[in-house]
Amino acid sequence: MHAATSRATSSCTLRVMTELVRVDPRRPGRDEIARAADCLRRGGLVAFPTETVYGLGAHALDRAAVQRLFEAKGRPAGDPLIIHVAALDQVTALVTGVPEVARTLAGRFWPGPLTLVLRRAAAVPPEVTAGLDTVAIRIPAHPVARALLEAAQLPIAAPSANLFSRPSPTRASHVLDDLDGRIDMILDGGPTTVGVESTVLDLTTDPPQVLRPGAISLEVLQTLVPGVRMRDRTAAAGAGMVSPGLLPQHYSPRTPMTLYRGDAASVRASLLAGVRDALAAGRRVGVLATSDHAAALRHLPVVIAELGPADDAEGIAARLYAALRELDAAQLDVILAHDVPHDEHLWRAVRDRLHRAAAQVTDRASDRPEGRGGPAPTPR
Ligand code: TXA
Ligand code: MG
Repeated sequence: MHAATSRATSSCTLRVMTELVRVDPRRPGRDEIARAADCLRRGGLVAFPTETVYGLGAHALDRAAVQRLFEAKGRPAGDPLIIHVAALDQVTALVTGVPEVARTLAGRFWPGPLTLVLRRAAAVPPEVTAGLDTVAIRIPAHPVARALLEAAQLPIAAPSANLFSRPSPTRASHVLDDLDGRIDMILDGGPTTVGVESTVLDLTTDPPQVLRPGAISLEVLQTLVPGVRMRDRTAAAGAGMVSPGLLPQHYSPRTPMTLYRGDAASVRASLLAGVRDALAAGRRVGVLATSDHAAALRHLPVVIAELGPADDAEGIAARLYAALRELDAAQLDVILAHDVPHDEHLWRAVRDRLHRAAAQVTDRASDRPEGRGGPAPTPR
């Protein structure tokens, strides 16, 4: 139990106490799940593990609960939520129709880390979708999320359970760090497995577009969805608010982070030079790096958060947000990191999150007189 500020708005308790409840991630206990489901039914806010990241759940059709959710996260009202459901038949009440391609994708990837954007039915409060006429929906695979959805028998709106723009939580302790005293309950089911948020696929455009890359990759979707492509980020910025999760400043540590990109040798040289420069300037330095690069920096007085083997996309994705949070908690002046060398399958999602976490992306190769490839350093 974690004591918290007193507020009279909670539907579950008179004071807003955030209760941390441990659950077996594979076979969650009935009583704990029933209590969490009851809390949601009464308009409370419950954080729970999904296979991607922890979500902060609220009854999706309860406008007051949804408003509390936005408040608790400090999330701007213009950023729409994903509705989580237990089964495909619950989707029909939330949308104007389920296109054939959505059924195909659901059959293949649900439950799982794929979110589908469909046309919104009138039953969905506009607060959930930030006034858009579309709604994002997914069936999560995590046994705790599934048990909760089945027990509650509600559509549950659940953004990632972090404060707005902070890295998403992959452990219950991350949720507690951000939201203690602001939400009613956290179901602690241990670390999440995927580690980055679901793929968001918009099926309301022609051709369909991936708004956010995730574990269900573009390459895999292309085998089932004719013409599907990544949304053009520059177009997204110009067109305003199609998917605010695509905005550059998101998932960021509070400490400014510089991201170096290029081949392994130039990244290694850039990291070393960056660390030396920052240390010489009297700054406290953190490094986010795969094991190979980390090994080359170990003799220096820096805080290193290691991401594991450089060729292990799953491992890096699973560890990324926890590593960012560790560095953020270490009272540093600057974080230096490096891009991943690939851009296919899960690598695309990892690269996307790294770029959004970074205050600055620097292509050292382009600094050279011979100008070997890449654009000039991009301030973010
Ligand atoms: O893995 C996940 O998706 C996690 C877990 C908890 O399910 N949830 C999550 O939610 O990441 P959130 O709110 O942090 O991110 C939702 C993303 C945002 O980028 C949002 O803009 C986009 O989905 N989104 C939601 N509704 C949308 C809509 N109608 N049209 C376009 N984008 C939408
Ligand atoms: Mg989020």
